[in-house]
Amino acid sequence: MEIQKAERLSKLPPYLYVAIRQKVREAQARGVDVISLGVGDPDLPTPRHVVEALAKAAADPANHQYPTGEQKGMPAFRRAVAAWYARRFGVTVDPETEVLALIGSKEGNHHLALALLDPADVAIVPDPGYPAYIASAVFAGAEVVRAPLRRENGFLLDFADVPADVARRAKLIWLSYPNNPTTAVAPLEFLERAVAWARQNDVVIAYDHPYSEITFDGIRSHSILEVDGAKDVAVEFNSLSKPYNMTGWRIGMALGARPLIAGIDQVKENTDSGQWSAVQYAAIAALEGPQDVIARDLAIYRRRRDLVVATWRSLGLDLEPPQGTFYVWAPIPEGTKSMDFVSRLLDLTGVMVTPGIGYGSRGEGFVRMSLSVPDDRLNEAMARIAKVRDQLATTAVGSR
Ligand SMILES: Cc1ncc(COP(=O)(O)O)c(C=O)c1O
Repeated sequence: MEIQKAERLSKLPPYLYVAIRQKVREAQARGVDVISLGVGDPDLPTPRHVVEALAKAAADPANHQYPTGEQKGMPAFRRAVAAWYARRFGVTVDPETEVLALIGSKEGNHHLALALLDPADVAIVPDPGYPAYIASAVFAGAEVVRAPLRRENGFLLDFADVPADVARRAKLIWLSYPNNPTTAVAPLEFLERAVAWARQNDVVIAYDHPYSEITFDGIRSHSILEVDGAKDVAVEFNSLSKPYNMTGWRIGMALGARPLIAGIDQVKENTDSGQWSAVQYAAIAALEGPQDVIARDLAIYRRRRDLVVATWRSLGLDLEPPQGTFYVWAPIPEGTKSMDFVSRLLDLTGVMVTPGIGYGSRGEGFVRMSLSVPDDRLNEAMARIAKVRDQLATTAVGSR
């Protein structure tokens, strides 16, 4: 029998990280010592008190059963999330009806699409943007319309760039700041504009906020729930992955509009049984325990950021230091295709970065470099780039 996979799989854009891993494997097979600045995944460890909380909870047979509170998350976890949001953003949410535990924020984004979108509904995804949003919309059968994030607007979406008929037809818009890949951070006024636009056009906002704690130079990220009326139209996704170095633990949270929380809960009820209680206990320890890990990591990322920015500027390319996330969104020589630049960089230096085109057509002209790489490897990568600076700076000439 010839097995035919569902058509929806063929509608997915090629998953960027899979293509990158393949390129890295090929170079390694040629004997190249590849330094990958591709994937954003903290190299720094989870705080010890969090690991200890997991070990303790794992030893308790009560936690060997289906999770307490099932897919919704333990009441204690939801209360800890609500308290963290109150402390951090001054936002009040009801842990019973406005908070949900997630198996990472990616899971929440995906299940929101299934809860909200019917075939032929329109979902707006910023361009450039995190590729998983498109996949989630495609799985729900929805039509994806891209909305441009322009450098001249600081990569904040200009709602005038969403045509009136798209705004009328759209049911969902994804917004995410601090932004992957552009590194922009949104001021509160932008979030106010977003909520006003969403209310006016009856569009739900999925505010993906997993980098809320990763900002620099005194800039702080805002929750969209700080905006009056946001709870009528928005759901915010956050995660312990980035601030507490817990990407592998798969624990995050959704907060916001009750019908959206209830909808995601309903999808989860029929899909997964929630995150393991022991991981939720560990997450409570992270949210309620000492927070010094965040400041310590930010100092490390800032040092790395400054090194990468200085190296890039030495190529003669114009780059402002990122305001947030642990990425650098770096322009490449004019006229160069990002995929060509990435291949050339890999050939010349063994350093792998992500081509901007992987985030949408408006990502062309940029590459993304991740700062979640150990210092010695990042230093080595930047030293290799600096050595071939002249060849890289002239890449454009050959590829026009
Ligand atoms: C914008 C964005 N959203 C969501 C995620 C997924 O994070 P989590 O580990 O919480 O699922 C990532 C991870 O890189 C991301 O960049």
